[in-house]
Amino acid sequence: MHNTVSITKNIHWIGVNDRRTHLFENLWPLDKGVSYNSYLINDEKTAVVDTVEIGKLDDFIDNIKSIIGDKPVDYLIINHIEPDHSGAVKRFLSEYPKATVVGNRMMFKFFEAFFGDANQKQMVKEGDTLPLGEHELTFFSTPMLHWPETMMTYEKTEKVLFSADVFGSFGTLDGVVFDDETNIERFEDEMRRYYSNIVGKYTAQTQKALKKLAGVEAKIIAPTHGLVWRKHIETLLSLYDKWSKFETGKGVVIAYASMYGNTQRMADFIARKLVENGINDIRIYDVSKTHVSYILSDIWKYKGVILGAPAYDQSNYPNMEHLLNELEIKQAKHHIAGVFGSFLWSGGAVKRITGFVENAEWELVSDSAEIKGSATGTDVEKLENLAVKMSEKLKKYFD
Ligand code: FEO
Repeated sequence: MHNTVSITKNIHWIGVNDRRTHLFENLWPLDKGVSYNSYLINDEKTAVVDTVEIGKLDDFIDNIKSIIGDKPVDYLIINHIEPDHSGAVKRFLSEYPKATVVGNRMMFKFFEAFFGDANQKQMVKEGDTLPLGEHELTFFSTPMLHWPETMMTYEKTEKVLFSADVFGSFGTLDGVVFDDETNIERFEDEMRRYYSNIVGKYTAQTQKALKKLAGVEAKIIAPTHGLVWRKHIETLLSLYDKWSKFETGKGVVIAYASMYGNTQRMADFIARKLVENGINDIRIYDVSKTHVSYILSDIWKYKGVILGAPAYDQSNYPNMEHLLNELEIKQAKHHIAGVFGSFLWSGGAVKRITGFVENAEWELVSDSAEIKGSATGTDVEKLENLAVKMSEKLKKYFD
C-alpha cells in the first residue's frame, strides 16, 4: 500500500503526514500535525523535488517506487535543505546513487555541512533551466524563505510552481491534498501560525518573492507543507500579501501574565470595556498557558495588542519576556498597543513592555497602567481609559 496522489498526469505528490512529532523544529507545537510534501516528476528523466523528514524514510522510498518501480531517479532538486525536507536525502542517495543533486551555490555549501560532497551535482542559479523530456524546470531564487539558500522550481509545461516553505502550513493532509477538496478556511489559522512563526521574520523577502511570482503563470502551487493549491491561488497570494504587509483586522489580542490573578482580572476588565465600546473581536491569552506561537499568530491577525504582566524579580515576568522576545525576533509591525501590569515593591514589567512597544514603533493608545496590587479607584479608571482609547483608535482606523 502507498499514499501518493497525482497532481498532474506525470507529476505526483509523494509526501508524508506526521502526526507523531510534538514540536516542529523542536519549538512549535504540532497539535494538528504537519505534512512534508515531496514531488516526483516522471518523464524521460525523472526528478524528485525535495525529500521528507528523517522519520519517514521508508514510506518516502516506497512512494517513489510505487510510481516508477525500478526506474532510476535522475535528479534530486533541493529547493530548501532544512532537515524537515532533507532528512531523507542520505537514504535517497543510497537508494539512487546515480541521481544528480540540483541546487544553488548556497544549498551546496549547506549540503556539504550536513552530508559531505554530493557524487553528482548540478549547480543552478536564477533563471537556469533543466529539461526532463516533456517537462522543463526553471529555478527562481527566493532567499530567506525560509533559509538563505531557498529557491523555487517552476515546471513550465504544466505550470506547476514548487514553492518550498512559502505557502506552506501546519496541519496534516487528512485525505485531502488539493485546496478544492476541502474548506480552505479550516487551514487558515494553521497557515497563519506557520507563516508568522516560521517565515514571518522575512516579510520584505516575501514581498519580493510575490513580485517575482507575479510574472510566473502558476496553475498549481505545490509547497513543502500543507495543501497543494490549484483553485484558490488568488486567495493564497492575497493572504501572503496581507500577512507580509502586516495588514491586520479590527480586533484585539490581550496577552497577560498573572501569578495570583491581579493582572488576569485587569485583562478581563479591559476586554469587557472594549466590548462595551464597540470592539467585539477579542482574544485573551495567558502567556503561561498558551504557547507563544498561537499568540503570535493572532497578533498577525489583529491590529490591537494589549500586553500586561506583573513585575518579577524587579523585571518582566519570564513568560511575557518570551513573548516579547519572539515579537522582537519576528519584527512584528504596525500595531496599536496598550500596556498594563502590577507591582508591589518595585516595578519592572510595565517599563520593559512599554520600552518594547516604543522600540517596535507600535502606537501606544494611552499611558501604561502600572498598578500596585489589585486595581482600585483611579487604577480602574486608568484601565477603562486604556480600553476606551484602544476602541477609539481602532474605530477610527477601520470604520
Ligand atoms: Fe519546512 Fe524551512 O523547512
